[in-house]
Amino acid sequence: MRFALLVSPAVNRVYAQSAGALATAELGAINERVLNGELTDLREQVLGSVSYLTFSATEPELTPLARTWLSNLSATFALFRLDADDRLVPLDLDRWDELDSDLLTIQKYAGKTNESFTKLLLNVTLAASAFTAEKRALSVLDPLCGRGTTLNQALMYGFHATGVEHDKKDYEAFALFIQRWVKDKRLKHTAVAGHVKGHPKLDLALGVDKERFKAGDTLRVSYVNADTHAIADVFQPRSFDLIVTDAPYGVQHGAQSGDGLSRRPLELLTSALPIWRAALRPGGAIGISWNDLVLRRDKLAQLLTENSLQVCDSPPYRGFLHRVDSSIERDLIVARAP
Ligand SMILES: C[S@@+](CC[C@H](N)C(=O)[O-])C[C@H]1O[C@@H](n2cnc3c(N)ncnc32)[C@H](O)[C@@H]1O
Repeated sequence: MRFALLVSPAVNRVYAQSAGALATAELGAINERVLNGELTDLREQVLGSVSYLTFSATEPELTPLARTWLSNLSATFALFRLDADDRLVPLDLDRWDELDSDLLTIQKYAGKTNESFTKLLLNVTLAASAFTAEKRALSVLDPLCGRGTTLNQALMYGFHATGVEHDKKDYEAFALFIQRWVKDKRLKHTAVAGHVKGHPKLDLALGVDKERFKAGDTLRVSYVNADTHAIADVFQPRSFDLIVTDAPYGVQHGAQSGDGLSRRPLELLTSALPIWRAALRPGGAIGISWNDLVLRRDKLAQLLTENSLQVCDSPPYRGFLHRVDSSIERDLIVARAP
């Protein structure tokens, strides 16, 4: 049986020509890691003047596992089965989203990592981990978190989120935003602004609904305003299931003034990776996006390997390189902690 996925218009706007290729790579990585290759013949196909990502499955119905992952791909707008005449039969989506989607879209600022791309990076990192079947809320760390796009996407999925960022303005902006957002949504929550080892820290716990809050079933978000190297002092080793981060691009970006470290991604990653590695649980995975024009993939892969991480190097995981602008060609790399 053949199926078709319609890529969301928002994703098409972000990546322009690369949207189909990125969606194919995302589904390819998930198919390989989580779905044991049950989907075959993935390709872009035009049906009635519109481009779809199409694929085959041996059974007439998608398995529940395939359906749920397909529903949560970063590019998914709608999902269809193709009947014998290539007519589209719509299928229900089963989204993981626990919160309103404006959590991801309200904040707008120069240097924001696009929210669809952030979801893609989280998805392929999760897929590479040993935790895809876990029922508990996973814990996600973004060690260079800016104003928290990864943290927000992790919360959307019902995961606990931790961010570290040295820019004070980013910390203050996120702290203001998230507290206002939970109030506006009338979500039960607690928020504590304090310090850890001298660094400003916000801890917020929110209940997706009143009952879950009462039962102590909360989603926790913590944000520490510190240099990423402070992670070793602030968190216990093996505290996080997933590390997901968009590294500095090594170029002046929008209104961000940039600093020495931000302009040298290789130096930053070389010194920070051993610290991040220690924070990762066995079975966990790390996903990093970066600017391929200032740091070659092979060099980053070598760094990850030197830190006892297993790089995912199959064809889908090598299909994410895309142009952002004249000074940024973004790629992502994912590695597992054995
Ligand atoms: C590409 S941006 C990430 C943006 C973030 N994903 C967002 O959407 O807001 C990289 C971030 O790394 C931060 N950064 C660079 N060097 C750092 C360091 N040594 N410690 C902590 N943060 C750092 C920068 O300030 C910047 O916010």
